[in-house]
Formats: sequence, C-alpha cells, structure tokens
Amino acid sequence: MEKQQKVLVLDFGGQYNQLIARRVRECNVYCEVKPYTTTIEAIKEFDPIGIIFTGGPNSVYLETSPQVDPEIFNLNIPIFGICYGCQLMAHHLGGLVTEAQDDSAREYGKTVTYYDNTCKIFKGLPESAVSWMSHGDYMAKTPEGFALVAHSAACPNVAIADEKRGFYGVQYHPEVNHTEYGVQMIRNFLYEVCGAKGDWTMGDYKERSIKEIREKVKDGKVLLALSGGVDSSVAAALLAEAVGNQLTCVFVDHGLMRKDEGDEVEEAFAKWNINFVRVDAEARFLGKLAGQADPETKRKIIGEEFIRVFEEEAKKIGTVDFLVQGTIYPDVIESGAGNAAVIKSHHNVGGLPDYVDFKEIIEPLRLLFKDEVRQLGRELGLPEYLVMRQPFPGPGLAIRVIGDITKEKLDILRDADFIFRDEIAKANLEHTMNQYFAVLTNMRSVGVMGDGRTYDYTLALRSVTTTDFMTAEWTRIPWEVLDRVSVRIVNEVKGINRIVYDITSKPPATIEWE
Ligand code: XMP
Repeated sequence: MEKQQKVLVLDFGGQYNQLIARRVRECNVYCEVKPYTTTIEAIKEFDPIGIIFTGGPNSVYLETSPQVDPEIFNLNIPIFGICYGCQLMAHHLGGLVTEAQDDSAREYGKTVTYYDNTCKIFKGLPESAVSWMSHGDYMAKTPEGFALVAHSAACPNVAIADEKRGFYGVQYHPEVNHTEYGVQMIRNFLYEVCGAKGDWTMGDYKERSIKEIREKVKDGKVLLALSGGVDSSVAAALLAEAVGNQLTCVFVDHGLMRKDEGDEVEEAFAKWNINFVRVDAEARFLGKLAGQADPETKRKIIGEEFIRVFEEEAKKIGTVDFLVQGTIYPDVIESGAGNAAVIKSHHNVGGLPDYVDFKEIIEPLRLLFKDEVRQLGRELGLPEYLVMRQPFPGPGLAIRVIGDITKEKLDILRDADFIFRDEIAKANLEHTMNQYFAVLTNMRSVGVMGDGRTYDYTLALRSVTTTDFMTAEWTRIPWEVLDRVSVRIVNEVKGINRIVYDITSKPPATIEWE
C-alpha cells in the first residue's frame, strides 16, 4: 500500500483549529494538528505534503507572540496561512504587519471579497463572495515575491500568494461556514498546490489499521471493556476484524442500560468469532445501590463495582498482552485541559486501569474525530442504531432515576424513555438534537384516570442541542411531538401520571439531572 499523504496543521492558538483539520479530512486528505513549537526535525519526520498555519489571538509583531522557525520556509513544502498564519508568513518573509490605525482596516464578520481566479487557491470560484473576517492587524507591506490575490472594500490585501514557492495567505477564515466557497479554497490548496491524491478514506483507514494491529498483536491476547457506546463498540469491531478470537470483549451489564440495549450490543457482535463475555451483574449493582439516594455516592458505587467486576473477568482470562481503549482524537487533545472544578465525578473518562495486568495499550481510534469513528463503524458493518447512538453516561439510568434506585423504577423509566425516543424517531427529529432522554423524578403527584384518583411519579423529558456538551441549549421540540410523547407515556407506562419538559440550558443546569 502506498504511503499515506499527510498535511500538518500548525496550531497558533486559534479557536477554529480543529475545524481546519476537519475540513482537510473532509477533502479526503489526512492531517494532524500540532503545536507551533514543533521542531523542524519533527516536521521533516512527519513529512507533510503541505502545511497550514492556523489563526491565533496574538499580534505577530509582538515579541511574546508565537513564532515559527524561519527554516520552515526552506523545506520546499507549500504553506497556507490563515489569518494570524497569513500575517506570520508576511512578517517572516519581509512584509510589514501593524496594528490597524483606523476602524476601516480592521475587519470583523461577513465581508464581500473579490478574488483573482487565476490564483490556484481561487480556481473555479466566483469573482466575489462573502468571507468571514476576524482581524485587528493589517498587512501594511506585502512581502517580496507575493502578489495580491483578493481584496475587499476596506482592505487591498485580503489574500497574498507566491505561487512559485507555493505560499498562500488569507486574512479571513476559509474553514468556517460563513465563508462561501471556503472548503473549495482548502481543497484547491490541497489538490492544486500540494498534489493531494485523496487517499484518506475510511475504507483505506480500516485496511491500514487492521494490518497495523495484526503486525503489533501477532499472536498476543487482547482485552477490551465494551460499554455499548459508539467508541468502544467501533474499537471492538476493528479489533474483532483484525485478530478474531485473540480478542476478549468484556461487557459488564450493570442492569442500568436503556430498554433492550444490552441485547442489541450482544447481537451486533454475534457475527465475529471473538470471546464475548456478557456479565450479568444487575443483581450485584442493584444490591450495592439499594437505599442510596445521593448522586455522588451512586456514581462512586457504580464506578468501583464496575472495576471490580471487570477485574474478576480479566483474572479469568489470565495475563493479557494488550488492553484496548476507545480514546478518540478530541480526548487526546483535551487531555491537557486545566483544573476545572469537579461538578460530577465522571465514570469511564480518562485514566488507565491499573487493576489489570497488560503489557501495552492499543488506542486504534486516537486519530479520529467522532463522525469519522461512526463512519469507520459503518465500514465494519456495525448497525446504524449502534453507530449513531447518542452519548450515554457510564452510570447509566442510575443517574436518571432521582434518589434511591429500585428495579421497578428502572423499568418504568426504561419504558418511558423508549417511547420518547420512538416518537422522536417517528417525527424524524433525531438529528436536530444531540442528547435526549427521560428522567424519573422522585416526586409523586395526584392525578385522575378513568374515575379514579392516582398518585404516581412525575417524569421529566430532557433534550439538548450542543456541539461540545460543555454548554447546551434546551431543544425546542414541537408541541405536537411533546404532546404525543406525553399521551403515550401516561397511557402505556404504569406508574407515571404527569410529564414535564425541562427548559433549562447548561449552564446553569447540567445535562443530566444528577
Ligand atoms: P452533564 O450532566 O455534566 O453531562 O452536563 C455532560 C455530558 O456527559 C455525560 N455524562 C457522563 N458520561 N460518564 C460518562 O461517560 C459519566 O459519569 C457521565 N455523567 C454525565 C452526559 O450524559 C452528557 O453527555
């Protein structure tokens, strides 16, 4: 197989850097984001066909601002500078970047921009279109060898190009949706300038990963903790395809899953000849949780019990050589995040299990974004309901039954949650919300059904729209859909006589109730 072409995205601290990486990959070219401090040696070793300098919040002319080793301009590799990246290139190659003296030279927001279509970056584009600007600095002098290839009413040098050397700079952000034809410009850089072949496809990635995994694992034993979530399922499918029965998947069924979920996961893996261990630990978990009403206590019990069960199963297998983790690219990047306050002690995020003996960790998804993980899952033949599964917390329904947990309450919640999801699917609204579920509040209220009085639980429905799950907006679900859900639940699920819809955003609320 031919060597994978790669693009390097050099990170200067801009807010859209991951988006640039997404765009490059959408163009079927593999890329990685690396810090601007990456050494020339490391860049040479990475051997990219092109380099993109990202935007950033600083001003290039300040001594404290991020810089590059000027040797980067002698590597004979095309460079595309975006915003700060453009100014940085101009600054290093003999241009002059200064603070804009008057408001007309500073540009923010949507700006009509005029493009020179003879420049490779703008090939096939209209002569003018809207671009998204966000810069307070101004290129007072263009560096030698560069031509001005785009302008706006306020700014004569919106884009510069030295086509001989393959250096291009734009002051706006082609990676954001507000820039019309932005992706086309990135594509032009990749294909017209860098000679990309478009060899980043999930099919290729799958084949390459399988080959690499086989070479690494040889005849070793592999262990994987399967949660039923997208990442661990796709990692499991990939390993199953690569090493078959050398793989043991331990699926701890804690009895806190949604309706039919445990069976669905088991069924999805039936086609592979692997050691699939489904541990029915419901009684054990519910026993430990009995009478516990405090959210943090419930989380801790589940986390600890999970480790214990997994440990017991791992011991039965004996020494394993490799432990698989479903870490994905955003986890890798965010792992450096600072000391945020602990709002909830999340189970199954970060940290390596030190309770299982193994020689090495395999993280087969660590280069993929979430939607790429889903695509890979499809390539591997996982069913759509698994691949598209919404995030589900490690402690499961235990944190959606408010207060103490009983099997009866869990069953009520499972049935209600199923109806909610079913109606959302029937209304074709699944893709308009990022997470939606039901919560069994611990509150009862009086109702009337037929001629009789009821005194049953209040169920809360929750749905959020979000990109990062750090902040979230409650979803504006159409009234008629909410109405259908409500009517069905009170009629079909015994034990619930009142439904409320949670209309708080995050912050101040969190997504889960506990
Ligand atoms: P909150 O409730 O903190 O949730 O706004 C943010 C996202 O994290 C999920 N969540 C968890 N995920 N283990 C997980 O793997 C956990 O313990 C956990 N608690 C919350 C939550 O579902 C939402 O997507």
